[in-house]
Amino acid sequence: MSYNNIISKENNGIATITINRPKKLNALNKETINELHEAFKEADLDKNTKVIIVTGSGEKAFVAGADISEFADYSIEEGKMLAAKGQELLFNFIENLSTPTIAAINGFALGGGLELGMACHFRVASDNAKMGLPEVSLGVIPGYGGTQRLPQLVGKGRAMELIMTAGMIDANAALNYGLVNHVTALDELLPFCEKIASKIMRNSSVAISAAIRAINANFKDGVDGFATEIQEFGNCFGSEDFAEGTTAFLEKRKADFPGR
Ligand code: COA
Repeated sequence: MSYNNIISKENNGIATITINRPKKLNALNKETINELHEAFKEADLDKNTKVIIVTGSGEKAFVAGADISEFADYSIEEGKMLAAKGQELLFNFIENLSTPTIAAINGFALGGGLELGMACHFRVASDNAKMGLPEVSLGVIPGYGGTQRLPQLVGKGRAMELIMTAGMIDANAALNYGLVNHVTALDELLPFCEKIASKIMRNSSVAISAAIRAINANFKDGVDGFATEIQEFGNCFGSEDFAEGTTAFLEKRKADFPGR
């Protein structure tokens, strides 16, 4: 599928989705959100794709936020719809994908940009990256899950301070907070993410999807994460991957997972 605002490529089991509006620092307008939804859905459904990496084009920004020019004159109802639609189409959608998703944060990740990064399963940043949720400086709050996911990742006090001050933290502070897992040089960012992806790809994709669901269950209201884990654990025993993984171990060879 061809897109106006993103580039989506698949190579050796890794889908790389690049947000491509560098003149607007890759800000997320509605069309980009719709295109990202389609690209993530397509990559998730593609059996050849084992890991998805999302990044921004250019050397300056991952995503500098939701596109402010699109919502500056919105009403209360339109504001609610913007957040609800965005959460459903992109942010919650990514978090619940079966395919592991890595955010390669290559510069500014502000507002909706950091929220996009936080919706991914984990994050790696380049050393020039700057992150923050500056929405209160515009008279609004984060609406794409930022008030929920930032405290989950860095703790309530740090999230309160970062949101209230509308401040930005650099890559090393984000590493120290646990907001990103690794920091690399800018030109090493994608190769590094691909290296992690290749480690993930050696393992059972069935088990990895089950692990994503079980981990996410801990963060869903009214869902017992331990019960989800028991269910998902049990289901793994019915997979061909489990038969292959255990047989390969007992036969002292590398597993060749069929992904079923
Ligand atoms: N929405 C819409 N346009 C944006 C944008 C956003 N979130 N962030 C940047 N842009 C646009 C700018 O308007 C500018 O467009 P123009 O050249 O047509 O005027 C272009 O991207 C470059 O940005 P600029 O501000 O000139 O770059 P800078 O290096 O001086 O500053 C930032 C970089 C990231 C500090 C600054 O762009 C910024 O504060 N952006 C908004 C961040 C924000 O509040 N995000 C949360 C939104 S909810």
